[in-house]
Amino acid sequence: MKVFKTQETLRKELEKYTGKTIGFVPTMGALHRGHTSLLLKAKTSCDVVVSSIFVNPTQFNDPKDFQNYPIQIEEDIKKLEEVGCDILYLPDNVSDVYMNETDFQVDLGVLDKVMEGTNRPGHFKGVMRVVKLLFEIVKPTHSFFGLKDYQQYLIVKEMVSQLNLGIQIVGCETVREADGLAMSSRNLLLSFSERQVATTLIKTLEYCREHYTGSGIGDLEKRCLSMMSQYGEPEYFVIRRADNLQEVDADYRGEVRAFVVCRIGKVRLIDNLRIN
Ligand code: PAJ
Repeated sequence: MKVFKTQETLRKELEKYTGKTIGFVPTMGALHRGHTSLLLKAKTSCDVVVSSIFVNPTQFNDPKDFQNYPIQIEEDIKKLEEVGCDILYLPDNVSDVYMNETDFQVDLGVLDKVMEGTNRPGHFKGVMRVVKLLFEIVKPTHSFFGLKDYQQYLIVKEMVSQLNLGIQIVGCETVREADGLAMSSRNLLLSFSERQVATTLIKTLEYCREHYTGSGIGDLEKRCLSMMSQYGEPEYFVIRRADNLQEVDADYRGEVRAFVVCRIGKVRLIDNLRIN
């Protein structure tokens, strides 16, 4: 795998692949099997696979979360090599990513006004800023995103469509630990006992899937919220349409998902599940 610390050297390397399919997997590092599943998917569908590791400061609304974000570059590089990643963009300063930034407008409608949009002010603006810049640097034909961060996946797809970036955004299933906990870099910050109770997120999502009938949604949301509050501090538990994150009407027949955020100790965990 070739590693590039500047966008200038990376761009030169990528010129060699003009006309080929370029699969891109942006990450913030502390890689686990969730990340590598995206790389493996990219590997099966693209000529060349590019990844990036960059802990993007503009998407952290909580400075402590940014300071505590786990960093383990050497292990990450090993994991990327194991799955056959061809190229890694590993900027060592923020300005290398942000130097050519230009203003842009995307109308996200409801997409950034619910869930993470309201609970993490500015988060999606920071995600869109960095993802757009990374897309401009890498110029991928395809880019792979985890459905674990479902709202992020929808927002990136919407941005690509409104800005006509011509990149195929591929959503990839959530990879879980054996006990169902969604893999996350933040799981590294859980203590032993917190790790045990962290399964409350998936257990509650599964309970929700078992009891979902299409009516009495408000009651089911409340029940799930109170189940979780026995183990952690839930921020929200909501049931929404998967296509646009709006509330589910009685006549809606499409995909429905339940979305949850819960604090276990100091760690903020996120998960979601299709429930119909
Ligand atoms: P990060 O949290 O490192 O995640 C990188 C990608 O891995 C995202 O698309 C995320 O949804 C996916 N991912 C994380 N855990 C997963 C799991 N258990 N199963 C499947 N996919 C999983 O998301 C970000 O970084 C950043 O916001 C980024 C897009 C890189 C912009 O800074």
